[in-house]
Amino acid sequence: MGNRDTGIRTPRPQPLLQIKNLDVSYHVPGGRIQAVAGINLQVSKGDTLGLVGESGCGKSTTAMAILRLIKPPGYIERGEILLKDQDVLALPLEEMRQIRGRQLALIPQGAMNSLSPVTKIREQLMDGIITHRSGTKREAIERVETALDMVGLPNRVLNMYPHELSGGMKQRVCIAMAISLNPELIIADEPTSALDVVAQRVVSQTLVEVKEKLGSTLITIGHDMGLMAQMANRIAIMYAGRIVEVGPISSVYAEPLHPYTRLLIVSVPSIHEKRELRGIPGLPPSLLEPPAGCVFNPRCPEATPLCRSRKPVLQEMEPGHFAACHLLGKTEGTMFEKEAPDYSH
Ligand SMILES: Nc1ncnc2c1ncn2[C@@H]1O[C@H](COP(=O)(O)OP(=O)(O)OP(=O)(O)O)[C@@H](O)[C@H]1O
Ligand SMILES: [Mg+2]
Repeated sequence: MGNRDTGIRTPRPQPLLQIKNLDVSYHVPGGRIQAVAGINLQVSKGDTLGLVGESGCGKSTTAMAILRLIKPPGYIERGEILLKDQDVLALPLEEMRQIRGRQLALIPQGAMNSLSPVTKIREQLMDGIITHRSGTKREAIERVETALDMVGLPNRVLNMYPHELSGGMKQRVCIAMAISLNPELIIADEPTSALDVVAQRVVSQTLVEVKEKLGSTLITIGHDMGLMAQMANRIAIMYAGRIVEVGPISSVYAEPLHPYTRLLIVSVPSIHEKRELRGIPGLPPSLLEPPAGCVFNPRCPEATPLCRSRKPVLQEMEPGHFAACHLLGKTEGTMFEKEAPDYSH
């Protein structure tokens, strides 16, 4: 991959996370909502991957599936989630519990509103450490103080209750909670969407700095394409339970390959160019009865009869830049079929 033209085939370094053909559904009275439908995604060590898409497209479901935190009526129906070589979906629950916090950390959507209003920050931070790691109380206190320092909060915050903190400070506490065990992969689900734009930028910056200091990898979920461009080096665009495009930030913005990505990019308002606000016509499809063929076809200005009958697969169009769209004209295999090392020539 990425070196087809040289004739030399070398396998790519093993990614930290590989999601293969993942399906997650919620069983509801009207049927089955396929919230995540056959997604394939890779995250390399050190990456900051931005996962974006409209509300309800399956971003949080993907995040929760990685940590195996999907609860009924939700079910992981199929797929593999490899953390290095280990399929987390196949691990016994006790091992999975050990991995959470130590290797994988989640800052859940709305985390700052889930802080207990009656417990001081110190206890809330200590609880997470004591649940996941043995050691002395002194060691736990040191970890808490280091984590707090990394997110730019003073030690006096430890004696405070959540109501005494601003939104930005609460969100920093949630980041401190997630990083206190030095996880290899941090997943932040809309870490700043409840904050004002200034706090959003500052807290996002802190998150990226902390990730760099720890040498971790970050998946950050959000809606704001501009914010993602500042934080991430790769971006994945999700639509109705599918990844429709994924690639380096620079090439996805400079040369978006999927019509949905193009519409998302032009719908971002610009202060440099005063023009009518543009949205994406139509509504996302019902995940109870998704349309046949490409899920985006009912809203796609460029849809052809093929788009209405056959599902497109993610294909690599530029090195590391994948999209799932029939208009791109290729019909080769998926990301993972192409990804398998090939030494045949
Ligand atoms: N517990 C649940 N029971 C039934 N359906 C659910 C449940 N949780 C999520 N869903 C459905 O699964 C789909 C994906 O939801 P998810 O929360 O993953 O979306 P999202 O992309 O994170 O959205 P948002 O940007 O609003 O957070 C949606 O259609 C949602 O209604
Ligand atoms: Mg969500």
